[in-house]
Amino acid sequence: MNLIEVRDYEEMSQIAADYLVKQVRKNPASVLGLATGGTPQKMYELLIADHKKNKTNYNTITTFNLDEYMGLKPTDPTSYRYYMDQNLFNHINVQEKNINLPSGLAANVEEECKKYEVRIQEKGGIDLQILGIGSNGHIGFNEPRTAFSSRTHVVNLTASTREANARFFDSIKEVPTQAITMGIATIMESKEILLLVSGEEKADAMKRLFSQEEPNEQFPASILKNHPHVTIVADKKALKGVVVPV
Ligand code: PGA
Repeated sequence: MNLIEVRDYEEMSQIAADYLVKQVRKNPASVLGLATGGTPQKMYELLIADHKKNKTNYNTITTFNLDEYMGLKPTDPTSYRYYMDQNLFNHINVQEKNINLPSGLAANVEEECKKYEVRIQEKGGIDLQILGIGSNGHIGFNEPRTAFSSRTHVVNLTASTREANARFFDSIKEVPTQAITMGIATIMESKEILLLVSGEEKADAMKRLFSQEEPNEQFPASILKNHPHVTIVADKKALKGVVVPV
C-alpha cells in the first residue's frame, strides 16, 4: 500500500481528482469504479470543474458504482444513483449506457447481483476503483465479518453504518436497512485502487489498517494489504496517531 499524506480534505480531493483525470486521459476507455458518501464529494466537484475547463472527455469511459440501497428509486434524492447524477454524471459527458449501479429495485436481487458481476467481467474488469472506508473498516457496504470471497451481494447494514449515513436522510428511520454491494473479491479484482480517507473519525480505522494485523474478515479493509496496487490518500486528521511502517 502506497500512502500519500496530505494536509486536509481539499488536498486529498485535488490529488484524487488529478489521479482520476490522468487515468481517463491515459485510457479513454477506462472502466472506473466509483464511490458515494461524503469523502469523494469534493473530488467530483473538481472533476466537473476540470471537465468544463480542460474538456477531459468521458464519452468512452464506463462506470460501476460500489453499492446502492435496497428499495430506493434512482430518482429518490437519497439513492446513490441520484447522488451520482447530482454530483457527477449530470455535469460530464459520460454516456447513460455506460453507467452502472446495482439496482435496489430488482425483482430478483440474486439475479441482479450475478448480472452486475457479469457486466463488470464483460467490460474487462475495473481499471481504477475509488474507495472510501467506514470507521468500522467496511469497504463498499462490506461490513465486518463479510467473507473475503464475497461477490456482489445483498447486505444488512449495521447500526453504526446506518447512523453514520443518517446525515443524508431526514431521520435514521429513513435509512434503508439493506443494500447491494460489490463483494470484497469483486473489489480486490480491480487493477488499481485509490482509497480516500479524511477526518478524525477515520483515525482508528487507519491505525488498524497500518498496524501489523494480518488481513482478516473482522476488519474488511485489511484485505487491501494483499492488493498489488493500492494508493491511499489520507489527511492529517485521519492519520492522527498512525504509525506508518517504513
Ligand atoms: P463517507 O463514507 O465517505 O461518507 O465517510 C465512507 C464509507 O462508509 O465507505
